[in-house]
Amino acid sequence: MAQAFFNFPQGFLWGTATASHQNEGNNTNNNWWAWENEPDRIVDGKKSDLACDWWSGRWREDLDRAVDAGQNAHRLSIEWSRIQTAPDRWDESALDRYREIVRGLLERGMTPMVTLHHFSDPLWLTELGGWENDAVAGYFETYVRKVVEALKEYVNLWITINEPNVFVAYSYMFGNFPPGERDMLAAIRVMTNQVRAHAAAYHAIHSQQPTARVGIATNYTPFLPAKRRSPLDHLIAGVQSNLFNEFIPRALTSGVLRFPLWFKRIPAAKNTQDFLGINYYTREYVAFNLRKAKELFGQRFLSPDVEHSDTGYLANEPEGIFDAIKWGLKFKLPIMITENGIDDAEDRLRPRYLVQHLHQVWRAVNFNYPVKGYFHWTLVDNFEWDRGWTQRFGLWALDIDTQARIKRPSADLYAEICRQNGISSEVVKRFAPEIYDQIFPD
Ligand code: NOJ
Repeated sequence: MAQAFFNFPQGFLWGTATASHQNEGNNTNNNWWAWENEPDRIVDGKKSDLACDWWSGRWREDLDRAVDAGQNAHRLSIEWSRIQTAPDRWDESALDRYREIVRGLLERGMTPMVTLHHFSDPLWLTELGGWENDAVAGYFETYVRKVVEALKEYVNLWITINEPNVFVAYSYMFGNFPPGERDMLAAIRVMTNQVRAHAAAYHAIHSQQPTARVGIATNYTPFLPAKRRSPLDHLIAGVQSNLFNEFIPRALTSGVLRFPLWFKRIPAAKNTQDFLGINYYTREYVAFNLRKAKELFGQRFLSPDVEHSDTGYLANEPEGIFDAIKWGLKFKLPIMITENGIDDAEDRLRPRYLVQHLHQVWRAVNFNYPVKGYFHWTLVDNFEWDRGWTQRFGLWALDIDTQARIKRPSADLYAEICRQNGISSEVVKRFAPEIYDQIFPD
């Protein structure tokens, strides 16, 4: 049989993404730790506890796994509550630890990408009102300056805020993340503060490190009308898509946060992205529903016609990642896929999910769309926020009682793709034969 090969550009970044609270363990000084300790906040009643035990040193063995598996980059996050333990107190030893980790990446020949805020907040900030307090942008900037001063020798790629849109929706509209609010006005205030905080951080980073490349990691979810012929479904899908996908990245281009009946100028935010980070997981469908006032009259669901993940959380919609990249072109920036993955404890679906999504990324690259890297979520199973340990996204499984790591077949599949800088027909035949004909038609 003839061999075929889908090549990626030279220098393409291949990695996995992780986050401090999900991986480090014992993050006792943040709002998530407090939230986990309240009854009924986490679906399985479990806590982050030791998580993947990175803080006591297991990051070393996991990064060894990553580099041995052909990855040349890694995205991790810094835990604000470890660095700034109180508004006027800094923990230099925590900074040293992060310095050691990013140096550890360089020593392994991997490019670090560092996220400065990945959902968790220091408790002292929560006590001051968190992201609803307009002073947050100033606090964030001070913290960012401290981190950048410590790490700029090693790190060039920065994400200021991870998924600001998910953070605002879950924390202030749906109430499943702390502080558990359902308040549209609070959500608007928080979005405004996120844009301000990002802008302040962007300028601070560039003043300290002129060569830095700074962006956000936005979650892009295509919202499609449930019924193609229903104008109301179209309308509501459009409204949800605008609110969720567009407002924040647009504000970082135009310097204006524009809502349907109101807008806010934030001139400092104009053109404050050097690249666009996209987290893509699934598509969703939206049906107009008068009873869903809190969700802006839209009932959201996954397509019943495609495969779903273990817990029914995600659908396998690979063309959606192509849509996401195409959507991102309008910002005229280099694009990074900063997250993509699926919860699949048995690794039943992940091999084909991975190949199909990377095939779509390859298609985009082939159209000359400027995609520069791909970070799979995630390296080792980690703490999945309000979904606790019920969802397993890792290339390696984690036994939380023993801290043992167990390799899933997808880890080897991804390793082949990273090492070859492309997708070969042989690899698809070996790891996902059921989709061979779809990826390599005669
Ligand atoms: C996106 C978030 O950034 C990450 O923290 C989370 O674990 C994944 N989605 C999977 O749900």
